[in-house]
Amino acid sequence: MQHQQEGIDWRDGDVPVSTRFDDPYFSLEDGLAETRHVFLAGNDLPARFRDGFHIAELGFGTGLNLLAALHAWRAAAVPGRLVYTSFEAFPMPPQDMRRAQSRFAELDTLAAELAPHWTGGAQRIALSDLDFTLVAGDARETLSHWQNKANTWFLDGFSPAKNPELWQPDLMAEVARHTAPGGTTATYTAAGFVRRGLEAAGFSVSRVPGYGRKRHMTRATLAPEKPERP
Ligand SMILES: C[S@@+](CC[C@H](N)C(=O)[O-])C[C@H]1O[C@@H](n2cnc3c(N)ncnc32)[C@H](O)[C@@H]1O
Repeated sequence: MQHQQEGIDWRDGDVPVSTRFDDPYFSLEDGLAETRHVFLAGNDLPARFRDGFHIAELGFGTGLNLLAALHAWRAAAVPGRLVYTSFEAFPMPPQDMRRAQSRFAELDTLAAELAPHWTGGAQRIALSDLDFTLVAGDARETLSHWQNKANTWFLDGFSPAKNPELWQPDLMAEVARHTAPGGTTATYTAAGFVRRGLEAAGFSVSRVPGYGRKRHMTRATLAPEKPERP
């Protein structure tokens, strides 16, 4: 059964599908398993976690990727704080985020802990182990003004066919400009124009096995800083 509410269709109970983009927010198969495969393993996480590690994301959606990352951070017992910045043009109402998150029993405790913080708009959450910022607005405008560099990017727009503006070469160049030397990015898509955009931006790009029925996904690495010549 499907319900319509503020641009969201609910499928299979609690999988939100955007009516604006005609695409699900996460895999209808198993969104959490896909996040772990694509964004965590795809960026060699949790192995690279250390105090102050900065994840940035294009497309905050339901907050699933944030919950999965913080869950992995806590499981790895990394001392210090995870920094997580997400760029989102159409923030979801908090009750819709919670409904979508409720699909993942493993994340229940964390979802309940963060629930009182959601505002449905731009915001900052500071916990003892998390420094989270939601940058509201079109990432094509907001990212160029961002003053930071992330260690890892989660590129999680809707599919490149349906949300092409979030995958354009110009935006991939901004992603590279906002990536620390040696940083990485991963995404579930292996679309040729996305890979070419990342390459043109200076990333070394590889195609690796995707999640579930997706044959391939993309990983990309920025060269480490060159040591200065004596
Ligand atoms: C696949 S969903 C993200 C899923 C999310 N990472 C999660 O964990 O639930 C894609 C997101 O990109 C956002 N988006 C689409 N175009 C955008 C743009 N130009 N700038 C910023 N966000 C955009 C959508 O509103 C949507 O929330």
